[in-house]
Amino acid sequence: MPGRIPQEFIDQLLERVDIVEVIDPRVNLRKSGRNFMACCPFHDEKTPSFSVQPEKQFYHCFGCGAGGNAIGFLMEYERLDFPVAVEQLAAKCGMQVPRETPEQHARTEKKHNLYDTLQLADRFYRRQLRDHKQAEKAVGYLKERGLSGDIAAQFGVGYAPPGWENLLSEVKPDNEKVELLLQGGMLVSRDENRIYDFFRDRIMFPIRDSRGRTIAFGGRVLGDDKPKYLNSPESPIFHKGRELYGLFEARQANKHLARVLVVEGYMDVIALAQQGISYAVATLGTATSSVHIQQLFRHCSEIVFCFDGDAAGLKAARRALDTVLPSMEDGRQVRFLLLPTGEDPDTLVRSAGADQFEQRVSTATPLSEYIFDAVAEHADTNTADGKARLSQLVLQFVQKLPDGAFRALMLAELGQRTGLTADTLTRLAQYEIEPEVEQELTSSEPVQRSARRSHTPETFSLAESAISLLLYRPQLASQVQDLSVLQQLDDADIKLLTELLQLLHKRPESTTGVLLGYWYGKPEGEKLSGLCGCGIELLREGVDILDRAGGDKMEFDAGIERQFLDTVEKLKGLHNQARIRQLLIVAREAQLDEQQRVELAQLLSVRKM
Ligand code: UTP
Ligand code: MN
Repeated sequence: MPGRIPQEFIDQLLERVDIVEVIDPRVNLRKSGRNFMACCPFHDEKTPSFSVQPEKQFYHCFGCGAGGNAIGFLMEYERLDFPVAVEQLAAKCGMQVPRETPEQHARTEKKHNLYDTLQLADRFYRRQLRDHKQAEKAVGYLKERGLSGDIAAQFGVGYAPPGWENLLSEVKPDNEKVELLLQGGMLVSRDENRIYDFFRDRIMFPIRDSRGRTIAFGGRVLGDDKPKYLNSPESPIFHKGRELYGLFEARQANKHLARVLVVEGYMDVIALAQQGISYAVATLGTATSSVHIQQLFRHCSEIVFCFDGDAAGLKAARRALDTVLPSMEDGRQVRFLLLPTGEDPDTLVRSAGADQFEQRVSTATPLSEYIFDAVAEHADTNTADGKARLSQLVLQFVQKLPDGAFRALMLAELGQRTGLTADTLTRLAQYEIEPEVEQELTSSEPVQRSARRSHTPETFSLAESAISLLLYRPQLASQVQDLSVLQQLDDADIKLLTELLQLLHKRPESTTGVLLGYWYGKPEGEKLSGLCGCGIELLREGVDILDRAGGDKMEFDAGIERQFLDTVEKLKGLHNQARIRQLLIVAREAQLDEQQRVELAQLLSVRKM
């Protein structure tokens, strides 16, 4: 007998199929607003009362009450058993239905137990917020932050009291539960038999999955201690990069979720909900991933990203932009809302009020405008040259869009702004920008280095290699005096490299330690110390330099220097390639002036060398 079909597979399948595509060939559907209507196939009727809701992936008949998901529909309509219906749908999606082995079955059981145990912890923390002798302190904190009792209850806010063994004593001596709490990250085990509570003296925010099951917690200190927030570690049921805080609550609060606001913090989600803006979600201290985006677009058609207006916020917005582009199918909308510096949604909604805040959300910058704004500062569109540069920059984004109306509109808009024909732009979008150039110039995704390094999982971009060599041997900076080309490259790592070089030109005696210290505590500092660690690793590619040098130190040094200078030259070359392409566009669409002609000729001759 075949084993059970794993629940996860059924979830994946339901994420993949579109109920409209399942029902439409069998029942003639007609679009009606957001939904589809038809005469019900399950009872006799003359006027349609059978509705299919794509956003909910659900059908319902107002006449006879029939309703369900895509699998349910197939079972009813084709009179199939559950596994057969699943097999049919899976086959349509090109998916193979897995069956659980007894071991897998045991694992599923275990997961169920894990959910149960986290629910136990959830109840425990809520009870402490009511009953613990120090609860007053926690309640006081929440009140001071303006939380009502209702909203705290709605989000299941709790309190982990001070002390090392509160949750532990709740389950001791049930070893199975202790084991599960360890697995769920609620208890920590140090040494053999020292087990203690992970969350202590913190306000507890349960993180729920889309079905409302508590799968993890975020815990906030009551004062200014560090770390401010602590999240449960990853576990078999909790994967940070997939979950969105508040999505379950948002879906509970809204029958129809038209729009979702993505904010940065738990408290932002809750404060907004308390003010009646019940459609905000937050990532769990991570960047917005494409899994997040797919999940959101399954529930709504508009995402508004809301970030602080500071440098970190801009960077986060830029990352969100890159992540969202491939998902911009027709009918989907994305906007960006950058808040005034120093404000977050929590503070702003309290000071400005819900109406004003919603006004900001509704008038947030649409994706298309955001893209044009983002590139505008890099291109002066009054010149042919600037227009070509603009096209090039915008096309980097357009290229990531799926085919469809939005892409076409972007190209049309670009045409308007540059005077380039749609035809040229379409061609450019398809062919002109070489992926590796685009990647090197614009993204934080590293480029895979030569296969020789395949023994390590890390990959380095050119700029990262140059930085790590420079950290290893800061004196190399004196070899690169002309920074003008590097300064024109729009990429965070290249910028950091340039800044390192500038610093070293000013203070040539700086050691690696000084360089790390200079950026200490900033994201750049983290990057640098990461690269410093890898630097040595990377230089073992240098082992090969040392090998060739026959162990000779001077040869080795020369090898390092060559490698560094090569890397910098390659970076400059990237710029040249981009520039050549730009000039070629100008040449195609208009006339190159004398200066541009000379420049192009020069660039092309360098390239041949
Ligand atoms: P913020 O520090 O912006 O949170 O971090 P906040 O919501 O404004 O915090 P309050 O208002 O002081 O309570 C935003 C998010 O980043 C994650 C958390 O998910 C937090 O909600 N974070 C922040 C951490 O994971 N750890 C931290 O130490 C800080
Ligand atoms: Mn805040």
